[in-house]
Amino acid sequence: MTEELRFDGRVAIVTGAGGGLGRAYALLLAARGAQVVVNDLGGSMHGEGATTAAADRVVEEIRAAGGQAVANYDSVEDGPRIVQTALDHFGRLDIVINNAGILRDTSFHKMTEADWEKIYRVHLYGGFRVTHAAWPHLREQGYGRVIMTSSAAGLYGNFGQANYSSAKLGLLGLAQTLAAEGQKRNVLVNTIAPLAGSRLTETILPPDLVAALKPEYVAPLVAWLCHERNTATGQTFEVGAGWVSRVRWQRAQGAFFPLGENLTPEAIAAQWDTVQDFTDPAYPTSPMDSFAPVVGNLQKSGGAEERGSRGEETPSRSPAPAPPTADGPQAAIGHEFEPKTQRYDERDLSLYALAVGAAADPLDKLELPFVYELSGDGFRALPTYAVTFPFSLLWQITSVPGLRFNPALLLHGEQYLEVKRPLPLKATVTNRARISHIYDKGSGALVLLDVNTFDEAGEELAFNQVSLFIRGIGGFGGERGPSAAANPLPDRAPDAVHRDKTTDNQALLYRLSSGDRNPLHADPAFAAAGGFDRPILHGLCTFGFAGRAVLRHFAGGDPARFRSIRARFTKHVFPGETIVTEMWQDGVRVFFQSKVAERDEVVLSHGVVELVG
Ligand code: NAI
Repeated sequence: MTEELRFDGRVAIVTGAGGGLGRAYALLLAARGAQVVVNDLGGSMHGEGATTAAADRVVEEIRAAGGQAVANYDSVEDGPRIVQTALDHFGRLDIVINNAGILRDTSFHKMTEADWEKIYRVHLYGGFRVTHAAWPHLREQGYGRVIMTSSAAGLYGNFGQANYSSAKLGLLGLAQTLAAEGQKRNVLVNTIAPLAGSRLTETILPPDLVAALKPEYVAPLVAWLCHERNTATGQTFEVGAGWVSRVRWQRAQGAFFPLGENLTPEAIAAQWDTVQDFTDPAYPTSPMDSFAPVVGNLQKSGGAEERGSRGEETPSRSPAPAPPTADGPQAAIGHEFEPKTQRYDERDLSLYALAVGAAADPLDKLELPFVYELSGDGFRALPTYAVTFPFSLLWQITSVPGLRFNPALLLHGEQYLEVKRPLPLKATVTNRARISHIYDKGSGALVLLDVNTFDEAGEELAFNQVSLFIRGIGGFGGERGPSAAANPLPDRAPDAVHRDKTTDNQALLYRLSSGDRNPLHADPAFAAAGGFDRPILHGLCTFGFAGRAVLRHFAGGDPARFRSIRARFTKHVFPGETIVTEMWQDGVRVFFQSKVAERDEVVLSHGVVELVG
């Protein structure tokens, strides 16, 4: 037999508990040991008048059954007083069930401002007032369970309920944000859209249906969501008459349009079927999920726009979403991307060099040649400029057959770059990419993308291997791949240490020079949605700083001596922080790691540069 779910020692507020659904919740929780504040204003179903009788009756019922309860007769608009009742009588508060409600149904053209205001005040404002007063107590004790009561009218809209449906959907929005804010403190917030026979439904449903739709069929779900064993938060359920079902958002894959071109209403009309094609939908659950396709499109267009404007690259058409295949990620091994051609010149090289901190001191003779094409010492390209080549085609990863994933869950794990010879000062290069391996790491898939870059004569100029870790698509039965290599750093003090203070706008500069237009590096709101206080630096920007440091200290700033570089991205850098690169030489190899001085955290590990002997 399963163990009974008990609420001993827990204190619950149930608003509007004088009848209907609230009464059923109060009775069930009290029967299982909770101490309950039975709140009810005792007015009419349209919100007129007030009596103490409704709450008193339910308190008597609970006490008669041996439970503990106290009545409160305040309106939910006076939420703090209801919370105070719980604290005064029971000394704590664990559970808040926002249930009180009234109706003032009328079609929109007949709706008065009073109809709107009254509904808003009881449902949405009342829910806010009670929960807001309870919130500090729940947060501080690191435990809380909160229920918001929405309605099918709120989720889907309903004739004659413009006021009610607005307030009810407002409660869902409130719940979703509180779920995000409360999760770390174990304050879980869920929403129900119930259906039950009560005085609110007896005027619209036939009597036998009202009798059949017992509130007691809804109460068990509410009790479960309020129990300490429940871990669900931010979820929504429809519930009634013995049926419980979770509701979620569904989004079509949608149509993508190239940026940097004039987007017209006609183009939207032409793609209308794709916009609303729900074959193979996504199920977004956070603003990050919501942004993901937008970011994808910005990424695609970033490279195309920048270089296309100089007439070299055709603006990328968005791919159709990849069809799922039976083989899953395995099927993607060997997949070849559509080659991309791009042009660069001295201006691109200089901008990149500035973006990775070169010539921060403009009198520095060693670095001026990377940023000034007329420098007496001969203009030259930083070898790590070649890490930007894959960006012209990287976006195609979102349309590889078999590789279905949420772009927000993609992490850049490692980068390896080999330059076959010093980069020409201007060139039109062609990038060819292929997925060389996909390893099954359980929690995700490790995708290795090999990108070869060729010059106009077809000579290979550079090779990049981009390691991408995609969370959430592991477990497909693939090879596990090599286990993580040990960090090869020698056990002695570094042979050289290089410090670079990045500028506050470093990421803004880097994005223009690299083609990586991910708003995570520029948009504060976007960064906040990703859990960062402010936009972060591109990992490859830090990579460029580190490569420069090695080139400077061990190759005299001569790109001809630089063969390859590899590093693993371990933590983010905030623009403005100081990157400290520690280096150890071992023959032609220079091992390195980069840290952020301000937080003493390693941001690049497993670094190694191979020099030409
Ligand atoms: P009910 O009318 O039986 O219960 C609502 C209770 O809230 C009443 O006892 C009322 O006195 C109390 N109340 C009203 N205004 C208040 C205020 N300002 N302060 C404190 N208490 C107040 O209705 P029912 O059906 O039990 O509804 C409970 C909740 O479920 C409501 O939020 C309602 O909108 C919602 N709901 C109910 C559905 C149903 O099928 N019964 C469908 C969808 C949502």
